[in-house]
Amino acid sequence: MGSFSCFDTIYALHYKPGIKMTEAPRKILVTAALPYANGHIHIGHMVEHVQTDIWVRFQKLRGHQCVFVWADDTHGSAIMKSARKAGISEETFIQGMSDAHEKDFAGFGIEYDHYSSTHSETNRQLSTEIWSAFQEKDLVAVRKVAELFDADTGESLPDRFVKGRCPKCDAADQYGDNCDKCGATYSATDLVDPISTISEKPPVSGETDHYFLQIEQLHDFLEEWTQSGQHLQDEVANYLKGHFLGEPLRDWDVSRPKPYFGFEIPGTAGEHFWYVWFDAPIGYIASTKEWCEKNGEDFDSWWRSEETEIHHFLGKDIQYFHCLFWPAMLKTAGFNLPTRVHIHGFLTVGGEKMSKTKGTFIKASTYLNHLQPEYLRYYYAAKLGPKLDDLDLNLEDFVTKVNAELVGKVVNLASRSAKFVQQTGLSASYPDDDGLFAQGAEQGDKIAAAYENCDYARAIRLILELADRANPFVENAAPWNLRKDESKAQELQDVCTIAMNLFRQIVIYLTPVLPTLTEQVAELMNDPILHWDQSKTPLTGTPINKFKHLAKRIDEKDVTKMIEESKTEAAEEAATEGPLVGHEYGDSEQPMLDKPLTEECTIEDFVKVDLRIARVVAAEHVPEARKLLKLTLSLGGEHRRQVFAGIKAAYEPESLVGRKVVMVANLKPRKMKFGLSEGMVCAAGAGGEEIFLLSPDDGALPGQRVT
Ligand code: MSP
Ligand code: ZN
Repeated sequence: MGSFSCFDTIYALHYKPGIKMTEAPRKILVTAALPYANGHIHIGHMVEHVQTDIWVRFQKLRGHQCVFVWADDTHGSAIMKSARKAGISEETFIQGMSDAHEKDFAGFGIEYDHYSSTHSETNRQLSTEIWSAFQEKDLVAVRKVAELFDADTGESLPDRFVKGRCPKCDAADQYGDNCDKCGATYSATDLVDPISTISEKPPVSGETDHYFLQIEQLHDFLEEWTQSGQHLQDEVANYLKGHFLGEPLRDWDVSRPKPYFGFEIPGTAGEHFWYVWFDAPIGYIASTKEWCEKNGEDFDSWWRSEETEIHHFLGKDIQYFHCLFWPAMLKTAGFNLPTRVHIHGFLTVGGEKMSKTKGTFIKASTYLNHLQPEYLRYYYAAKLGPKLDDLDLNLEDFVTKVNAELVGKVVNLASRSAKFVQQTGLSASYPDDDGLFAQGAEQGDKIAAAYENCDYARAIRLILELADRANPFVENAAPWNLRKDESKAQELQDVCTIAMNLFRQIVIYLTPVLPTLTEQVAELMNDPILHWDQSKTPLTGTPINKFKHLAKRIDEKDVTKMIEESKTEAAEEAATEGPLVGHEYGDSEQPMLDKPLTEECTIEDFVKVDLRIARVVAAEHVPEARKLLKLTLSLGGEHRRQVFAGIKAAYEPESLVGRKVVMVANLKPRKMKFGLSEGMVCAAGAGGEEIFLLSPDDGALPGQRVT
């Protein structure tokens, strides 16, 4: 094909990897919604993360400066509750979750540029800055709000610390923010027969101050911003107009009284905290700022500059926050407004909501135990359109589609031709292919437009059209037959040069979706894939490496195993969550709240502490000491230990003589003013008069080790 060499030369002369040729360079900042640090990433989240990652990789491949900043969303009463339940600090809890999240993202090839946490100093500062802007513009109001308090401790009760029956469907055991069973959202004061999870008693009603943002004053701006330009998908703009903008916007309650895990509102003496949804989106800015600091970039050029585009990706459940409150916050504080908010629908599995009992609530890590990440990336891409429709993962369709399209149509092109050019490499000039490669190059613009518009389903369809043209070419040319005839060596090389180039062109177009496949193909063909426009130039004369399997077919058994593992996990979770055994004793959670568990220790750590049964054989006051009693403990035979114990307020010396206690017998002796203390007796309690010595059951002998 004569015209090809000309085409070829132009690109050979002008193409430089990483330098854009077809469009002016854009500066693009991208975010995905910040995952809650209260739970693990599941395949529902992955819809969004895959969608975002494809878009970012696409922009980078086009040569734009595109930066993906992200973070964990770490504040709120749900996280406070989970941390307390686990007996660790919130900081430790969110760190563990963040590590787990990052591992899942790495497993799925999500390539963000910076991952932060909303519990960061940068985020606190930016939240303060935005808060001050609202105060300066006189947009903050303080009003009393009904609140529940614990009957014993007097603490105000965050939503997650109250349980009761759902006001809508009457389901028992629901938290004060929403109902697990029917999905209703309400406030804790609406619960029927509420109980505080702290004291297990009915809470006491009262009031506290709350801080509100008067966003109605930004009504005109929001009307204009949501209804004009291309900031929102049409259905989103219409929804906002129909549901919110037709009437005055209600003040937004952005504070919670202590105790709360979050940032204290400055000037409230630690009494009030920002509600998690206030500082969460500010995390987008904070993460950018950290990225700028790390990379010597000018922060203002990203968030206070016309030249930068800002794109948010998120699910339809949180559109309200991102399309009304968030622009109101940005506008008030003088930051860039989003160029576009891309909103997606929800994942269903087999046409239904993900279900723990059916094993379709699949964690990202569980998926990765059984299946290749690129299969799911491909499947989601093939089904994601630019609208808010839900996306269904039909497991049979998943297997069929990946096997028939990805393996059968795409990878098969290479499987059937790479090995025949392993010895010779590609032909020195690109042979006549009846315009196949040129057609593919031309299709590139349409494919790019589809990616740009988040219509990945269309992009994949367009790409498969190319595979549907390339496969018949290979079948007709039948390199496996040409190979048998030595006189056809040149023809064989030419046919395989064409097949491998058509394959590579497809792979370049699939790079945003299948980054690992792209790397493998780059290695196979000795040419890195760094820019979209490489799809316009065929490779010639390059050696071909030994062909390694690029992707194998999905085995249905692996899908079954994944579902089974999800079921087991859900059952284990339910066993620890489920109806609480021993509730009838009414033991308060307070001691665990007061003193959360310390760090985990090993059995080796534990056995270092030598606990022994001891008998108190003498006990006396130490006149100079306010709190101490001097005890003589017997470990049997002639083994005696002198111990000073801080139990004077709780025990009379005489009452102790003769009783058995538990002591730490190998504690390093300590010299005290009154003499040597050679161990410790074990006791529980808050201190003062509330000290309770441990004693063994009858039969335990002094000197016996406690293990
Ligand atoms: N922490 C908030 C977002 C704060 S952004 C400043 C949050 N976190 S989340 O972990 O619950 O959800 C994160 C994202 O995943 C959201 O955009 C949400 O819509 C999306 N998804 C969660 N479950 C999903 C499905 N089942 N399907 C598709 N997306 C889903 O919301
Ligand atoms: Zn309900």
